Amino acid sequence: MPNRCVDLRSDTVTQPTLKMREAMMYAEVGDDCAGEDPTVNRLQSLAAKKLGKQAALFVPTGTMGNNVAVLTHTNTGDTVILDSEAHIYYYECGAISALGGVMPITIDSEDGCPDPDQTEFYLQRDPIRFPKISLICLENTHNRRGGRAISLEQMRIMQSIAERYNVPVHLDGARIFNAAHALGVQAKDIADCVDSVSFCLSKGLSAPVGSLLVGSGDFIAKAVQVRRRLGGGMRQSGIIAAAGIVALTEMVDRLVDDHENAQYLAKELAEIDKLELNLTDFHTNMVVINVQNIGITAPEFVKIASKHDIRTSYFDQDRIRLVTNHDVSREDVEYAADVLVKLIRSIMN
Ligand SMILES: Cc1ncc(COP(=O)(O)O)c(C=O)c1O
Repeated sequence: MPNRCVDLRSDTVTQPTLKMREAMMYAEVGDDCAGEDPTVNRLQSLAAKKLGKQAALFVPTGTMGNNVAVLTHTNTGDTVILDSEAHIYYYECGAISALGGVMPITIDSEDGCPDPDQTEFYLQRDPIRFPKISLICLENTHNRRGGRAISLEQMRIMQSIAERYNVPVHLDGARIFNAAHALGVQAKDIADCVDSVSFCLSKGLSAPVGSLLVGSGDFIAKAVQVRRRLGGGMRQSGIIAAAGIVALTEMVDRLVDDHENAQYLAKELAEIDKLELNLTDFHTNMVVINVQNIGITAPEFVKIASKHDIRTSYFDQDRIRLVTNHDVSREDVEYAADVLVKLIRSIMN
């Protein structure tokens, strides 16, 4: 078999499809800051409908979607409850604090959903002495927890706690369609558990750019202003929204292929006892392996794997992340599994 390069770093590396490029070429556009871009308007309507919410707002990135949501739901000096490994806390350069004056309260969890009792403990605190908690943020699927899908039952528990304390819930649903496949539900069933959701077109759905924030009509009307404040008011953005429409209409169902490929990869790697992999930990398009037991650090492993043309990424000193995606075929995954298994065995010897 000839050598091939397999890029398992992320689903963000996916290339736009030919249909997306064609749609971009012929997109009808207008000034979206005046609400006049027909393609953006079409994408927003489609997104709101798919997620079962009243309205949607097109934003350039998932990070901006999350931050527009947090800033819209909160005021300066408020606090937000989130999982200690949440993308909003971990990877967004402190934006909620830097831009919104909002403090995080992080709660540890095994699976990415903050512990309900701990959450309630914070919500019960004396509002005179402690900062106001004005939002709970969830993430589904959960990136740093290996693409885990949080169950609807867990989400509903969080929803009922939030309702009891009159606090809204925002979902970082960057990969909400992966979660829906894994849970065997519709994305709107997940969205129904929360007040707002941001989701990405530019990950497994393969669009080049773009995310959407969905919520009630009132919420989105406020969010439009926050987006503009953050510099996210775009003009003829129908050019990129056109690719987003293809992503939403044609790329959602095929995510299941990425999940099957990730399961295949996990099964092959699980043959190596020392990795102690549990296949049920991998719900979607990610496989996480801990290389501590094989006597190498994760950054070293990434370097060595890339010399064998398998591109991977790491979360920390011990954990490697492998992500299947549209641009990685079944044959690529079989090849990568074979190379990685041989490589790991050679490191152990
Ligand atoms: C869970 C999650 N949320 C949000 C984002 C941010 O998306 P973007 O890179 O478009 O800002 C990512 C990106 O990888 C993510 O994994």
